[in-house]
Amino acid sequence: MKSFKKTRSLFARASKVIPAGIYGHASPAMMVPGAFPYFAKAAEGCRYQDVDGNSYIDYMCGFGPILLGYQHPEITQVAREAEVDGECFNHPTEYSVRLAEKVVEQIDRADWAVFGKNGSDMTNWAIRVAREQTGRKRVAKETQAYHGIDPWCVPGYGGVIAEDRSQVDHFYWNDVSSLEKLIAEKADELAAIIVTPFHHPNYADSELPTSDWVGALNRLSQKHGIALILDDVRSGLRLHANGSHCRYGLEPDLMCYSKALGNGHPISACAGTSAFKVAASKCFLTGSFWNCAVPMAVAMKTIEITERDAIPEQLEERGTQLIEGMLALGKRYGIPLRASGEPAMPYVRVAEDSSFKRQQQLCAAAVQEGLFLHPHHNWFLSAAHTEEIIKESLQSFERALISIIET
Ligand SMILES: Cc1ncc(COP(=O)(O)O)c(C=O)c1O
Repeated sequence: MKSFKKTRSLFARASKVIPAGIYGHASPAMMVPGAFPYFAKAAEGCRYQDVDGNSYIDYMCGFGPILLGYQHPEITQVAREAEVDGECFNHPTEYSVRLAEKVVEQIDRADWAVFGKNGSDMTNWAIRVAREQTGRKRVAKETQAYHGIDPWCVPGYGGVIAEDRSQVDHFYWNDVSSLEKLIAEKADELAAIIVTPFHHPNYADSELPTSDWVGALNRLSQKHGIALILDDVRSGLRLHANGSHCRYGLEPDLMCYSKALGNGHPISACAGTSAFKVAASKCFLTGSFWNCAVPMAVAMKTIEITERDAIPEQLEERGTQLIEGMLALGKRYGIPLRASGEPAMPYVRVAEDSSFKRQQQLCAAAVQEGLFLHPHHNWFLSAAHTEEIIKESLQSFERALISIIET
């Protein structure tokens, strides 16, 4: 059995000085309390260690940022080189211009780009740009979609007032009629429709977009002059080197990135079409650390490697190997599993398990076997998940399945 002794004592200390001890998506309450690691110590490639020294093959990749692997040698080298000249200045550095040029060169439909630190910085700002552009107030989002921690969209109601959400409307994923109905009622008031490339709600299967859905988003946003914002924060660079919209044929006006963009370094970006450039220039945007050089240098390298090494294609192949292997094992041991989402960001769970109890048992057993799988959130692959690593993961997964058969 893995020991979580230091984990427990650190969490007790954290609870005294940090509200909730660990907050947000990393909270133990979001996983399987008592059966999962809480604090990380070190990581390399696709493996990480917790504070108790337990080691895991990681299928969460820092909840997305680790695209190429932890401590990727080329990324580490670029970061060190950039750091030599300093990190935080009065002005942006040349890296900001070169990174914007790189984004414009590589991301389809991008004519310009700006940078921040977190995904929420960019989703929130993109909505302001859409409002400036259209002169309208309302924003339409999918009911369960996560777009960040700003009051208009943060999950839950802590500290949120009714006015924060008073300009937000909802539609359902892949449900063209729910979008058409909303637009029939409020087209003239809608500044933006914000969507993720595919649907990846927590505590539910992921859903890919149908071609009807993509067609409706393009057609209705263009017909009614509503800005289409692609929140590519979670999927960006994993599904397509030129932006996830290229995978599905979506035609966004504004595209938001973060997570994989810096392979673990803090950076986010919003890119847009030339039609939105003047409006973008009118929406004040800044942050104390947003011009820092190192994450920008790293992001340039990450984008370059993504295309050079065909990373999305690699992830798709490895993800397919993982999913097919897991489903076959589930069948062999009489625990039917269901896979959803994209192979690069798969989600496999116990079928017919609406309470997610069996799924939690399985993921807790996987942790014991050195495999970090989230019970209720989509997973992530990185380029460090080689064919051999997937085989090793499947062996661990098999032992986890066997261990829960009798329970
Ligand atoms: C789809 C999506 N949008 C926005 C965000 C917010 O990004 P951040 O946590 O970097 O602010 C996230 C974070 O998980 C996300 O998955």
